[in-house]
Amino acid sequence: MQDIRNIIVLTGAGISAESGIATFRGPGGLWEGHRVEDVCTAEALAADAELVHRFYDMRRAALASVQPNAAHHALARLDAEWPGELLIVTQNVDDLHERAGAKRMLHMHGELRSALCADCGARAAWPGDLPPRSVCAACGAPALRPDIVFFGEMPYQMDRIEDALATCDLFVSIGTSGAVYPAAGFVQTARHYGARTLELNLDPSAGSIFFDESRMGAAGKLVPEWVDEVLG
Ligand code: APR
Ligand code: ZN
Repeated sequence: MQDIRNIIVLTGAGISAESGIATFRGPGGLWEGHRVEDVCTAEALAADAELVHRFYDMRRAALASVQPNAAHHALARLDAEWPGELLIVTQNVDDLHERAGAKRMLHMHGELRSALCADCGARAAWPGDLPPRSVCAACGAPALRPDIVFFGEMPYQMDRIEDALATCDLFVSIGTSGAVYPAAGFVQTARHYGARTLELNLDPSAGSIFFDESRMGAAGKLVPEWVDEVLG
């Protein structure tokens, strides 16, 4: 990997599957118990905040019983040892990358551990149990909500992601179906700027045709192998 200096890694639900967190569109996916419209839209939050909070409370509670897997640990090792630029952009809202030790990362769809004030934008750690319309400590408004990017809302830190895509030499996508934009379009942006592109996924994805190379298999096997390769 002599000509690779700046790397972007995009991860999706598939990297957490072997930790026991259901993916969204696979068999038994998270959406099967809940229609997307029921829980992941601002309209749903306005119509039935208790259901939305309960859905995320269930997902947050599940975090207590799962552990990072070999793929998370391999990316944390890359983070610690890679001398060039690295940005891990996760679509996931779990905290498994952090618990494995990753530092150079961001959650573009938000995270379960955080509460957001819909009024002033202040964030706070999600305090155990948070009923709907809890009061924001920063501004006093009864406006705390899950810090999750709902469908139709703009993902977080897109400027930072776009800057990184414009300067990366290698774009690696791990465990994502390529079903949701803007993340699904990142591979084409990276290619436009001349990056090499690699997909590590259990199945072919909607974006597989855009990758220079697609390796099919479980992240727990493919990611450690790839990190060994790239660290040389
Ligand atoms: N190893 C590698 N890949 C896997 C594994 C595994 N063990 N298990 C499943 N996969 C792959 C599947 O083949 C699929 O392509 O992970 C992908 C999971 O796809 P989705 O369930 O669609 O999850 P994701 O791509 O992260 O969804 C993107 O959609 O619902 C929204 O906001 C939500 O962030 C999410 C976004
Ligand atoms: Zn506030």
